[in-house]
Amino acid sequence: MSRVYNFSAGPAVLPEEVLKSAAEEMLDYNGTGMSVMEMSHRSKAFEEIIETAEADLRELMNIPDNYKVLFLQGGASQQFAMIPMNLMKNKVADYIITGQWAKKAAGEAAKYGKVNKIASSENKTFSYIPDCSDIPISEDADYVYICENNTIYGTKFKELPNTKSKTLVADVSSCFLSEPVDVSKYGLIYGGVQKNIGPAGVVIVIIREDLITEDVLPGTPSMLTYKIHADAKSLYNTPPAYGIYICGKVFKWLKEMGGLEVMKARNEKKAKLLYDFLDQSKLFKGTVEVKDRSLMNVPFVTGNADLDAKFVKESKEAGLENLKGHRSVGGMRASIYNAMPYEGAEALVAFMKKFEKENL
Ligand SMILES: Cc1ncc(COP(=O)(O)O)c(C=O)c1O
Repeated sequence: MSRVYNFSAGPAVLPEEVLKSAAEEMLDYNGTGMSVMEMSHRSKAFEEIIETAEADLRELMNIPDNYKVLFLQGGASQQFAMIPMNLMKNKVADYIITGQWAKKAAGEAAKYGKVNKIASSENKTFSYIPDCSDIPISEDADYVYICENNTIYGTKFKELPNTKSKTLVADVSSCFLSEPVDVSKYGLIYGGVQKNIGPAGVVIVIIREDLITEDVLPGTPSMLTYKIHADAKSLYNTPPAYGIYICGKVFKWLKEMGGLEVMKARNEKKAKLLYDFLDQSKLFKGTVEVKDRSLMNVPFVTGNADLDAKFVKESKEAGLENLKGHRSVGGMRASIYNAMPYEGAEALVAFMKKFEKENL
């Protein structure tokens, strides 16, 4: 068996310990004589899996009691519609546009109400986070929406926007559990788990209880109603059971690692290695404003598309996979989520040094 260093933006690398443990339990989970994939979601064994997963996530993120945790399906993209369907009481929302995902979310919300794009970084290909300390929040806005970490462009909100007491909604798909957050500053936090937490197919929603109501837009399907899922403790229908089980294992792994403060320090150390190299390199350069750099997604270019393609090809041959940038921006992107070991970043920098020598 040989494992590569997988820099994919998602689905992405998972902790080896988690994969091994899942493999060991594949045929017989905890004496049940069956795989988690094969068991009823109403069984005692699964009940314990989902309850433990929620408890561990609550502990890791220090989630206040007045927030519900929901394990849902449909990916982050389904939340683009579910959020306005459930939260747009006045049919108005403010969106901060820092990349394609925020743009898509705004486009979807516009099907249900008025969307005000109150700040944007599109003028410089989303290479920075706009100053959101005093933005024109709409008086009648039901919420203010951000994509906290922009997977494609490699930017991250280091400070949350001043929403002037309006509810903050955040897509944290690509920075979930990468560092501590103050959940009480948000009305709703959500993310697809396939980057930092588990396999594709699960989206986690952390939502303040007062936002969970029956008063949703007319025609909202049951499956897209937070209240229905909250009342049923995420078991309204058959949940993505195996995915939730793996998420639970990753939560245990994070706890064993020391929690989110420790992960933050690890992630900073890993990212610094890459950014420091980029800052002094004569061949490669980062594409993002220094103050807004993500700890999770690191885009970089040589400035020459042919050389970029050569880099992607040769890095793959060297066991460094999925370094090609997003199709909309080109160049390269290294995603260095929680499960990417420091050695992976070291191997990447060593390869970049070698490539620079050979191609400068
Ligand atoms: C920040 C962000 N939001 C949303 C999505 C869409 O996620 P999904 O494919 O789970 O719908 C992605 C996917 O890469 C993402 O990076």
